[in-house]
Order: sequence, then C-alpha cells, then structure tokens
Amino acid sequence: MIIAIDGHSACGKSTLAKDLAKELGITHIDSGAMYRAATLYFRKLNILPNDLEGIRKNLSGLEISMVPGETCAVLLNGDVVTESIRASDINDWVSDYAKIPDVRRKLVELQRSMANRGSVVMDGRDIGSVVFPNATIKFFLTADIRTRTNRRVDELRTKGIDVSFEAVKANLIRRDHIDSTREDSPLVRCDDAIVIDNSTLDRAEQQALALRYIAERIPIH
Ligand code: DC
Repeated sequence: MIIAIDGHSACGKSTLAKDLAKELGITHIDSGAMYRAATLYFRKLNILPNDLEGIRKNLSGLEISMVPGETCAVLLNGDVVTESIRASDINDWVSDYAKIPDVRRKLVELQRSMANRGSVVMDGRDIGSVVFPNATIKFFLTADIRTRTNRRVDELRTKGIDVSFEAVKANLIRRDHIDSTREDSPLVRCDDAIVIDNSTLDRAEQQALALRYIAERIPIH
C-alpha cells in the first residue's frame, strides 16, 4: 500500500503522514526532509543552486538515509541532520535546490526504492503526480496562509528559533510560488487526489477524516 500526501508548505502533511503511519503500522517517509538534506549538503560545500555544473559534479557524493521511526531520523553522509535541516537557512534555500532536475532525479529514485521494501505513507509535493502516480490513495492537503504561518512560527519557536510572523509568511509564499511554478514536477493537485482543508481541523480530526477515506478505499475484511 502506498499513501501519497502532497500539498503546500506547512500544511501539516508530515503530521498527518506520521499519524497514519503509526495507526496503520507502516513506514513514514518525509520526502521534504530529503530535499532539505540535499540543500544542507550543497550549502556546506558552498555550491549555489545556479551552479549546475558544481551540483552535477558533487551529486554522486550525496548520500541520504532515512531511518523510519517515531522521529524519522535523517542521515546525510552518515551524520544525523534531523534537526539541522529545519533551520531558517535551509527554509530559505530548499526550494531553489529542489527545482534542479538532477537533484530531483536522484531523490525520486531513492524514494521509489524505499517503497519497494513495504507499505509506506510518503509526503511531499510530487508524490501522487510523479513519484507514485499509481498510489493506493492520494491526499492533497491545504490550509489558509494565516494558519500555516502560525503553525510554522510555533514549530520554530518551540525549537528556540526566534522568527517573526511576517518573515515566515513571506518564506512560505515564496516557496509555494517556486514549488508550484518550477518546470520539473511542480506541485499540482492530481485529479484523483482527495482534498483535505485542515484550516479548522485539529490533529485528531484530520487523522480521523483521512482514516475514513482510507477505509472506504481499502476495505479491511
Ligand atoms: O515539506 P518541506 O517543507 O519539508 O519541503 C521542503 C522543500 O522541498 C519544499 O519547499 C519543496 C521541496 N520538496 C519537493 O520539491 N518535492 C517533494 N516531494 C518534497 C519537498
């Protein structure tokens, strides 16, 4: 079984994916974390997203492993980067690296190979459209920009990162624009995706709603 969850930044995709994985006893893969790890890798090497030659040359040295579990740990060339890929610098740059076709090709391959090992719920931007067009069920999450900004501000402040509402909102709008308008696998809502607007849903309500859709689609006898 493959559950695909796509949507804009800070729509609660990973939260829903985590909750469904736990409830259904399957693996959660946060594909955004993989693009974040790739961004950290190129930032450390001082290679800018417009340096396509540099990106291409160094792509073979990029190794990302995802360790499924409660926290979904991310390893970049053997180092745990689960926390550092959430930093503001990565938020600012990740969409610019994620639009590079060579980077996408490498990560999509990795995402598909991870699903070969068993049932997964994967969240991202192109999971239903490109990575798994034949997914068992596809969700497209959405929420209003104020709700999304507040959620991201809370998430960052909980981690001790001081941010302003306006700066976070501007970053989300910028990333939405880049993610939706890039040439290679832009964020789109697939015709066969179930739309969930979670602006007024809490975590438990969102999970219950998604589970109802899953039960309708995949009857358990
Ligand atoms: O879900 P997130 O905010 O952690 O994702 C970080 C960035 O990675 C996001 O701006 C777009 C990109 N991304 C992507 O292009 N394709 C995916 N499948 C997942 C994320």
